[in-house]
Amino acid sequence: MNKKIELIRSSLENDLNNIDNISKLNEIKTKYLGKKGLITDLTSNMKELSIEERKEVGKVSNELRAEVTNKLDEICKYLEEKSLNEKISNEQIDISLPSTISKIGVPNILEKVVEELEELLMSMGYDVVEGPEVEKDLYNFELLNLPKGHPARDAQDTFYIDGDTLLLRSQTSPVQIRTMLSNEAKSPIRIICPGKTYRRDDDDATHSHQFNQMEGLLVDKNISLANLKATFDIIAKEMFGNDSITRFRPSFYPFTEPSVEMDISCFNCHGDGCNICKGTGWITIGGAGVVHHNVLDNCGYDSNIYSGFAFGFGIERIAMLKYGITDIRTFYTNDLRVNPTFDRKECD
Ligand code: DAH
Repeated sequence: MNKKIELIRSSLENDLNNIDNISKLNEIKTKYLGKKGLITDLTSNMKELSIEERKEVGKVSNELRAEVTNKLDEICKYLEEKSLNEKISNEQIDISLPSTISKIGVPNILEKVVEELEELLMSMGYDVVEGPEVEKDLYNFELLNLPKGHPARDAQDTFYIDGDTLLLRSQTSPVQIRTMLSNEAKSPIRIICPGKTYRRDDDDATHSHQFNQMEGLLVDKNISLANLKATFDIIAKEMFGNDSITRFRPSFYPFTEPSVEMDISCFNCHGDGCNICKGTGWITIGGAGVVHHNVLDNCGYDSNIYSGFAFGFGIERIAMLKYGITDIRTFYTNDLRVNPTFDRKECD
């Protein structure tokens, strides 16, 4: 019997040392603890033994069974942990692998120009306000010093909604009127208003029946053309580069006096003359002026106390210049170059 036990012990040690996976472990378990296993076998001929021997064999086989069971449990635990760790390390995300690439949209170029202007002017204390696209003739023209029959209306012929009182606004300037009228305290104003505008123009490379403007209005005490020039200087440098030079050219708008065209030195040729500035060295990017006293008075601001300046930019014009777009229709004909999409990695 002792010899049998000896043999079991020595083969057991060897077997336990060689278990390196769960199926091997199960094999060993069966070999020793199974119905026909070696340890079970120790007690198979008990009937033939004396009581003393039975006791002894029973004790030894139980001890051995407990010992093997414990060892196998330990090994089982170790193997399970090992396989879990292997699984975790195999499943780690390999960040060096290229990820799936998807396309995302980015702001439309017109939106980008508007946002740039908004950001700049907000940093200078301007509020962004909105006005309706369906506007009263009263606000779009009359209170802006353009009474019915005024010849300057011709250049801004638009779409009428309701006889001759409601129209699609031909400019963002009526927001000046709305802002001044609604400011009951008649306190100083600093606003910009981006938005869509409409005109009865035949579409061509530089005209569109629908386009975007950004209006600006500043009303306060002692405001002059000099304040407008300084403001325009900052805008030009920010939008077109630090070496931009600005100039005013005399112009006419019924709602400003004096009125000016706002030019910047050509950012392409820096004044030498090229096809972008049509050889002049200058590019016009908007109209402006000192708010006409009639407009202030129409809106309840005492023009003896208050003065102001106003300006209007054509957003498409700025976008075309900045991004080298030669036909305004590009913005409205689903040309993806003005709605750029960029590759984006999925995990970005
Ligand atoms: N509303 C003008 C236009 O559409 C642009 C403009 C000129 C706006 C002078 C202004 C201004 O506020 O003062 O042509």
